[in-house]
Amino acid sequence: MSMAGDHIELNKEGMKNIALIGFMGAGKTTVSHGLKALYGFTEIDTDQEIVRQEGRPITEIFATDGESYFRQLEHDTVLRFQDVHAAVISCGGGLVMNPENVVNLRKSCVIVFLTATPETTLLRVKDSADRPILNGHMDVEYIRMLQEKRRPAYEAAADIRVATDGKDVGAICCEIMQKVKNFS
Ligand code: S3P
Repeated sequence: MSMAGDHIELNKEGMKNIALIGFMGAGKTTVSHGLKALYGFTEIDTDQEIVRQEGRPITEIFATDGESYFRQLEHDTVLRFQDVHAAVISCGGGLVMNPENVVNLRKSCVIVFLTATPETTLLRVKDSADRPILNGHMDVEYIRMLQEKRRPAYEAAADIRVATDGKDVGAICCEIMQKVKNFS
């Protein structure tokens, strides 16, 4: 694989951004860092943007103002970044449950659905204290249930699917770039 060639591809006129979607622990943040390091994408992380804008962590936003307030912030964040170029937008795990967000992302992004089994997901999220959706539910059964409940929305939004279990970040990024090129 030629990295230089990929970089030229990335900056080719009309190349879309990449939106990473998927459940918590699917690897969106790690893959986003990898896409930046390997291919020079600008990184945008919707959760980080919300935390920066609000000046407080996500757990506090949920606790003080509730989930629907957070979902409105997610919606506004997608709109705020709709004119970016050569960017990877890492989306909070629940963001594409709002179909309007999918419509807005699709205007400028190829939407990449990262998947992981419930077992892999638990290993990745079990020590995290900043995912209010999983508070008190850090177990495979709950993760499987919520993944299944959300799967139709992820599938409906996805242009491309990439399983992340057992793969290193470089291999996942390479697979994404190949699939994005074939899709565009
Ligand atoms: C959420 C996922 C989180 C964050 C918030 C809600 C969800 O992002 O947006 O805690 O509803 O799945 P990650 O998917 O980056 O953990």
